[in-house]
Parts: sequence; structure tokens; C-alpha cells
Amino acid sequence: MKILAIESSCDETACAVVEDGVTELVSVVASSKDFHEKTGGVVPEVASRKQLEFIFPVLERTIEDYREKMGYSGKEEAIASIDALAVTVGPGLIGSLVVGVTAAKTLAMSWKKPLIPVNHLVGHIYANFIGGHTEITFPAVCLLVSGGHTDLVLMKGHGDLTYLGGTVDDAAGESFDKVARMMGISRYLGGAVLSKKALECKEQGAAKLFPRPMLDQDNYDFSFSGLKTAVKRYLDSGERDVSSTAREFEEAVVEVLTAKTMKAVNNFGVKSLLVGGGVSANNRLRESLKSETEKAGVKLFIPEPRLCTDNAVYIASAAYFNNVTKDLSDIRAEPSLNIMGLI
Ligand SMILES: Nc1ncnc2c1ncn2[C@@H]1O[C@H](COP(=O)(O)OP(=O)(O)OP(=O)(O)O)[C@@H](O)[C@H]1O
Ligand SMILES: [Mg+2]
Repeated sequence: MKILAIESSCDETACAVVEDGVTELVSVVASSKDFHEKTGGVVPEVASRKQLEFIFPVLERTIEDYREKMGYSGKEEAIASIDALAVTVGPGLIGSLVVGVTAAKTLAMSWKKPLIPVNHLVGHIYANFIGGHTEITFPAVCLLVSGGHTDLVLMKGHGDLTYLGGTVDDAAGESFDKVARMMGISRYLGGAVLSKKALECKEQGAAKLFPRPMLDQDNYDFSFSGLKTAVKRYLDSGERDVSSTAREFEEAVVEVLTAKTMKAVNNFGVKSLLVGGGVSANNRLRESLKSETEKAGVKLFIPEPRLCTDNAVYIASAAYFNNVTKDLSDIRAEPSLNIMGLI
């Protein structure tokens, strides 16, 4: 089954075609992040206007790339071969979401194809299924670490997710971004820049300058706001070395994320850990989870870095796995279809 998916929850406008939830046929991503660099964060109005600007070129590019890749002679033949559409319906910025949802509904109606609504965060988890990881076993623990969310979820199967805990304030990605801005190394989306700086630190092992919030609490919750404040106080109190501050901060985040995740893995006795979201591109986090899961005899799945941040490939995968056993003719983009109140 071939699904064409659209993702427009924030500042990426993305479209992809994926076969049977695992084979990426084409993927196109346009981003307005350069515009948010100037303002040091997303201005929702700017993001939604950019979505409007990008949505048609992204759709056209996707269909043309797909036609070419599959060897179809024309656009009509390519479109006819698509079985269903999928679209991110939340969470995200409402002005951005509306653009993708409206485009998807319009196409579903004119092409007369089913339209599958997908939760963006569930999508992040499904990035692990791209390429066909048949060795993923259920129940699995999922760590979702993105720009806006940090959650631990127990996945007993497709469509069977239980929230275990999550951040009570900032998301891990948000704290990376804000600390990078405080350090003056990036104005927007500084996670990867901060991580690169941390690599330049010559000292072996972290000196534990910063707190490990909620580490000792018997739950699956996180807090990153106080850690961010601790870094601010440290930076304000004297001349500080950028690379060692970056390293100390990164170590604190990675230690807490690893410990709470492994607690869930052990307590639920799972054999698979699935990680998703932009922060899962972080090398230190990847190393730390690799080493702990190896010790525990648990299989670790982390998407390749390009699939960690927002794209439509994982939206198509989530749509497939959560609907493959259903009769898709029931899911029609009727004008009355109310997707998360977005009509
Ligand atoms: N190598 C890295 N190290 C740390 N953080 C990173 C790295 N690469 C990306 N990030 C962070 O990932 C986040 C972006 O991820 P993602 O695109 O999944 O978030 P989002 O879509 O904005 O949020 P959400 O998915 O919660 O709606 C940013 O906070 C960014 O700094
Ligand atoms: Mg995201």
C-alpha cells in the first residue's frame, strides 16, 4: 500500500510517499527555519505564511519525483497508484497545521482517496520502522525527545500506546535551544551546534556542574527548566569556557534521559527501546543509550539523523501501521470530517 503523507505542524513543510509503512519512495522537506533565526524562535504567523508558500511546490516536487522514480509516464498514472493520503493533525501550531490539513483534504476529495489523520508525536516513533525493522518486539518502551516534547511511552502494539511520564516544564530540545542561545552560539535550533561545541571539550568525563533534575524521583517524569536556569546562573557568574559548559549541560540532559528511560525499560521488562524526535540525533544520547541497552540485553532503535527531525516519511509509516487492518474506504475526507477541530 502506497501512502502519500503531508506534515506541516511547525516550520517544516514536508511530503513523502512510503510503501507498506517501511519503504521510503520519495521525501521532500522545505523549512522556514532561516526566517526564525532572525527572531530567535518561531513566530507562528511567519511559520504559517511560509507553509502556504511552500505547500504547492513541495507537493508538486513530491509527485514529480515519485512519477520519475516509479517510471510512470504521467502525473495521472502516478496519482492513481497512490492508495491513501495521510496528514499530521497535531500537536503543532494551528496556523501551520491548517495548511497541511486543508491541502490533504482537498487532494483526498478530488482524488477520491482515503485520508488518514496522524498524531505528529506518534509519527516520530514510526521513524524507527522505516527500512523495515522486523526485529522490533512489543511491548516496547518509546522515548520521544523533540523540540516541544519529552515523553516516555509504553507501546504494546500498533495503536496501543500508554503514556508513562514526560516533562513537567520545558522539553529537552527546547532546553538545548535555549542554552545554546544563552551561550551565544545559536539563535534558533541550537541543539546540534551545542553538541558539536561539547565535542571540542578536552576534559574527560563531566564534572557534574549542573543538577540532574528529578533523577531520584520514582516516576517517569522529567524537568529541564531548572537545569536551564542553573546554566544561566553559571554563565552569568564569570568568564566561562563554551565547550566545557556545553559538555556539562549535554551530560546532565543525557544522564537524566538515559536513567529514566532505562528505569522504564527495566520495570516493564521490555526487549525493544524505540527513540524518536530531533534530540535523538544527539550523538552523546545515542552512545549512552547504546551502552546501557547493550548491558541490559535490550535492542535499541534510533532513526538515522535525517529522520529524527520533522518529515512526512514517518507520518506515512504511522498511518500505514495504524490502519493496515482497517477498511480504508471508511476513512473518507468528507467535508464534515472534523480532524481535531480543524474545520
Ligand atoms: N544533535 C542534536 N543534539 C541535541 N538536540 C538536537 C540535535 N539535533 C536536533 N536537535 C533538537 O531537536 C529539536 C527539533 O526536533 P523536532 O523537529 O523533532 O522538534 P519539533 O518538531 O519542533 O517539536 P515537536 O516534535 O515536539 O513538535 C530542536 O530542539 C533541536 O535543537
Ligand atoms: Mg517534531
